[in-house]
Amino acid sequence: MNGILSEKGIAFPVFLIGFMGSGKSTLGSWLAARLNVDFVDLDRLVEACEGMPIPLIFAQRGEEAFRVAERRALLDFCQQGRRVVVSTGGGAPCYRDNLLHMQRAGTTVYLQLAAEELATRLRGVQAERPLLAGVLPEALAGHVGTMLAAREPYYSQADLVVEAGVGGIPDIGEQVLRLLLG
Ligand code: S3P
Repeated sequence: MNGILSEKGIAFPVFLIGFMGSGKSTLGSWLAARLNVDFVDLDRLVEACEGMPIPLIFAQRGEEAFRVAERRALLDFCQQGRRVVVSTGGGAPCYRDNLLHMQRAGTTVYLQLAAEELATRLRGVQAERPLLAGVLPEALAGHVGTMLAAREPYYSQADLVVEAGVGGIPDIGEQVLRLLLG
């Protein structure tokens, strides 16, 4: 947590990390509005930079090309040190030393949910996520569990960890705010 300290004592940028379906984008825009700062969704930024939606980037160029583009966009934010809330794609903190860059630049917040809850939320929106698109519904919970177990060691290094499986946005958001404000 070495980033620029705002008048409220928060080290910006604030990076929301966590698995697909954990609510990073929804919570991120809520949080940014409450803190009166800009909100950036890293996935949307990568799509704008690459000129195509994420499923097409994966299909035409492969995952590694996506990770390279995602890292480029992320490291830009780390260097700019803007007062901004950034929601990151689920795999971003797990690629190379992306997490270290985020930790050095600002504050990382992990939205933690159990695999079963994530699988429930992701059912029906799998097509938008290339890493889940081909998984049969009956295999989804197991697949999410395996991926989450591999990623948890990265996610759990976040500066702040918030249990985000129960309650709605105002409750979880207020909890994040309290933690951020110390
Ligand atoms: C990914 C998560 C997605 C997106 C891409 C890869 C992942 O973002 O970046 O499909 O590896 O977990 P969300 O976490 O916003 O769904």
